[in-house]
Parts: sequence; structure tokens; C-alpha cells
Amino acid sequence: MRMSDRRPDTAGRAALDLYRSAPASVRTHVAVRWWSAPFPAISAALPRAGRIVEIGCGHGLFSAYAALEAPDRTLVGVDIDADKIRHAHAAATGLDRLQFRVAPSGAVPDGPWDAAVFVDVLYLLPAAEQQRLIGEAAAALGPHGVVVIKEMGTSPAWKVRWNTAQETLAVRVLRITEGGSFDFVSPETMAGWLEELGLAVEHVRLDRGRVHPHHLLVGRRA
Ligand SMILES: C[S@@+](CC[C@H](N)C(=O)[O-])C[C@H]1O[C@@H](n2cnc3c(N)ncnc32)[C@H](O)[C@@H]1O
Repeated sequence: MRMSDRRPDTAGRAALDLYRSAPASVRTHVAVRWWSAPFPAISAALPRAGRIVEIGCGHGLFSAYAALEAPDRTLVGVDIDADKIRHAHAAATGLDRLQFRVAPSGAVPDGPWDAAVFVDVLYLLPAAEQQRLIGEAAAALGPHGVVVIKEMGTSPAWKVRWNTAQETLAVRVLRITEGGSFDFVSPETMAGWLEELGLAVEHVRLDRGRVHPHHLLVGRRA
């Protein structure tokens, strides 16, 4: 991947611009999220229209990007962190198709949803809770709904070490992210969970040219 591929596209610039009045710490955080996570590839896995829920949306940059990229999408982002949701809500002012709210841990807002998306959230929960939450998300889908999961893979070892060091800093030292421990589940295991739910699974590696072991899983209702 070329460095130029990390530059925000039109919707990415518009999404980042929503945070122009946010505190510097939030602006820095969302800029780093854009740089480190392959948001365009994740958004491309979502339907171009319909109701989409992001569980664990943080400051809301991915939801904002997905909404601005496709005008027929409605995005609802939920998170357990009230402070992040406050900033997400402020950023979304004036954009009716983009809403944020606080939700209890492990809750999926009532559907039906055309897509439920998790971006770097599940690893903060124990594996059994991850599987349960994915099941809840799948159960809240409409007839042609899709579950989209962006998580970190469990290989190669150097990327896993890099990611674990960064997450230790964010979760345990700086406490930027809510959570206490991590449980990185292999994409193959997660794909198996989606298949057990009767979903047709597509698994794509997104870590080429990146230091993080990004993987994308897409589970579609037949
Ligand atoms: C690494 S951040 C990712 C935020 C956002 N998805 C993004 O890509 O920028 C992880 C988020 O998951 C949230 N989170 C942690 N445990 C959660 C849970 N049980 N339910 C919902 N959100 C949770 C945290 O508060 C945090 O905002």
C-alpha cells in the first residue's frame, strides 16, 4: 500500500471536518483512527442504502464516514463510553442520517438492520461474549442483512506484538479505550461463528502495507 492511500477521500475529509470544533485531543484521536484503520475498505462492505448500526462506535468517525460516503445510508452508532458519544453527537449536529447514543455493554439496538458493523471492538470482550454479541447482531438483521467485522488477526507475530503494545498503552496505561483486557480471536474462529449462524462468510486480509494485522469478515444472510 502506498502512503497516499491513507489520505482521506472526499467523504473522509468531510467526516474529519465534522470534528473541527472538538477539543484537540478528540481531533487527534479521530485523525489517528483514520490513519491506522482501513475505513474505506470496511465501508465498501456495507450496503449502499439502508439502516446500519455500528456497535462500539467510539467518537463516531467510522459511522460519520459511512454516512457521508453514501447518501441513502442511515447510521446509528452506540458505545458504552458516554464521553465519546457526547463528542460523536456534537460532530453529527445537522446530519439527521447520523445518530449516536450510549448503550449498555453487549446490547444491540432493536432492528431490523440492513447491516451491523463492529470496528475494533470485539477484542475488548471475552471470546464467549464476542460470540454472543455477534449472534445478537445477526438476530437483529433484516432479510438481506449483513454483519461486518473488522478485527485484528492473530498473525504474523510481529504485527500482533505491535498491536498488543499499542492496545496496552491505549487501554491499560492511557485509558483512552474502555476495557480491561483483550481477547484476540483468530479470523478463522470468528468466521466459524458466523457460519454457525447460517451466514455466508467472506474473509479479506486488509493488512498489506500496514503494521496492524487488519482482517475483515463479512457475514451475509443468504
Ligand atoms: C478501539 S475503539 C474503536 C472505536 C470505533 N469503532 C473506531 O473504529 O474508531 C473501541 C470502542 O469500543 C467501545 N467498547 C468497549 N467495550 C464495549 C462494549 N461492551 N459495548 C460497546 N462498545 C464497547 C469502547 O468504548 C471504544 O469506544
